[in-house]
Amino acid sequence: MDTVLITGCSSGYGLETARFFLAKGWHVIATMRTPREDILPQAERLRVLPLDVTSPESIAAAIGAAGPIDVLVNNAGIGVVGAFEATSMHTAREVFETNTFGVMAMMQAVIPQFRARQSGVIVNVTSSATLAAMPLAGVYTASKTAIAGLTGSVAFELAAFGIRVKLVEPGYAPTTRFAENGGARMQGLIPEAYAAFAQPIFSAFANPAAVTTEADVAEVVWQAVNDASDRLHFAAGADARALVQATSM
Ligand SMILES: NC(=O)c1ccc[n+]([C@@H]2O[C@H](COP(=O)([O-])OP(=O)(O)OC[C@H]3O[C@@H](n4cnc5c(N)ncnc54)[C@H](OP(=O)(O)O)[C@@H]3O)[C@@H](O)[C@H]2O)c1
Repeated sequence: MDTVLITGCSSGYGLETARFFLAKGWHVIATMRTPREDILPQAERLRVLPLDVTSPESIAAAIGAAGPIDVLVNNAGIGVVGAFEATSMHTAREVFETNTFGVMAMMQAVIPQFRARQSGVIVNVTSSATLAAMPLAGVYTASKTAIAGLTGSVAFELAAFGIRVKLVEPGYAPTTRFAENGGARMQGLIPEAYAAFAQPIFSAFANPAAVTTEADVAEVVWQAVNDASDRLHFAAGADARALVQATSM
């Protein structure tokens, strides 16, 4: 295994995962909606390709340009926090287009080559939100939980072809561009009626007991890629691991 294609490498977990695999000596295809070479170390083993996971044409072009790959990391994602009642169906569809249908489309784009070679790994980056319910995250959690369910099911049928499928479940990282990238989408999603309920939740988020770093996620993606067992779940980050412990008690 030595070529990985990662989605959403312009910042955050994806960027760090690309750096991590490069440092491990892998060939890395770092994909971004707007390609930028300067944010990654210069290396012959690195290719930066354009990819928008919501566009079938973009997916076909990126997979064609990439050539054979051994590992796909579906990292690209967008967030939305707010009262479900106030979250428009337009926003819900937008979130699902990237977090859910984008991941499905990427999986379908690589499975034929993996099946033909009887090998390959797909890592789907979901969220610790899929591990335990949290308030004001309904649409986002739904988009990621759909992928958790899909991944668990598909892992069985693809195991028959020597393909491994894994879930990486990161916790909350205040240091990525996630909140900033979702800022406009979240405007007005806490109506006055929800303000008193939301206030302590946002205060707790501003002072988290534990968080996830980009390096935590990159390391756990590496671990998941190299895990030859049928283990499906890989929580990443101190907060996500604490959640797993709390929910398994
Ligand atoms: N940060 C957290 O607290 C947290 C917690 C749990 C899980 N996650 C998950 O971790 C993953 C990475 O998030 P992050 O925290 O690193 O956030 P980030 O810094 O915002 O990175 C997200 C990446 O996804 C890309 N992206 C968005 N829409 C895309 C599309 N349609 N096609 C291709 N790429 C697209 C972004 O590219 P652009 O620069 O073009 O927008 C960016 O590169 C996401 O799946 C997220 O849901 C994050």
